[in-house]
Amino acid sequence: MTNPLISTPSIIIAPSLLAANFGRIEKEVKRVSASGAEWIHLDIMDGHFVPNISFGPSVVQTVRSAMSGFLDVHLMCSKPDILLKPFADAGADQITVHVELNDMIDGLIWKIKDLGLKVGLAVNPPTSLTLVRRFLSRIDTLLIMTVNPGFGGQPFIPETITKIQLANRWRNSVPDNVFRIEVDGGITLQRAIECAGAGADTFVSGTALFGQRNLSAAVRNMRRSIANKLKQCSKPVVDTFAASN
Ligand code: DX5
Ligand code: ZN
Repeated sequence: MTNPLISTPSIIIAPSLLAANFGRIEKEVKRVSASGAEWIHLDIMDGHFVPNISFGPSVVQTVRSAMSGFLDVHLMCSKPDILLKPFADAGADQITVHVELNDMIDGLIWKIKDLGLKVGLAVNPPTSLTLVRRFLSRIDTLLIMTVNPGFGGQPFIPETITKIQLANRWRNSVPDNVFRIEVDGGITLQRAIECAGAGADTFVSGTALFGQRNLSAAVRNMRRSIANKLKQCSKPVVDTFAASN
């Protein structure tokens, strides 16, 4: 059964700061802000959940002071619990935690909501999507990792497409399911189009966007190509996320 209340949400492009030049971070953030991208994606890595370390709340605070857009904070951390408040205070709009943390998820969802933020739940490529199912009515965004997390610039894993399709089927079949489907990792223009065809509406892209001299043109191009793909699939574009904001 198709859920009559849910149409495909509007397209959101979220450049991932990990691919920016950290030697001139404020300029890079302003470049994102001026590009027309709706979100900026901020990857937090703890050197334990993933084999890499990125940055902490103070950098997020710098981003917050340089732009007013939506800050999408992706916690690739083993102990997100102790980090929620610091990132909320730093200006996060949404905090995403990983379903691989199993027993912690119920409490984390409550705490993120309690801080007045949107909730994201991420799932790694080897993890079964069934693990996220019971949380879907309580989250704002399902982040489907399309690479194994930890590093930017990795190639997209094509097997993740079936996961996006399944998530989209679940979203369309249950009235309470109004979450976004976000993809993250190896998202080039071509991969964004494929993911959109499978049901994704929110596109994190680091290397492919920051690798272009003209970030605004790259964002515009990605959005236009995705919209064309959705038109071909005759999917109506309605902004369910804005309505819940
Ligand atoms: C990977 C991160 C991604 C990364 C994406 O662990 O979660 O957000 O920054 O970067 P690209 O687009 O370069 O794969
Ligand atoms: Zn990420």
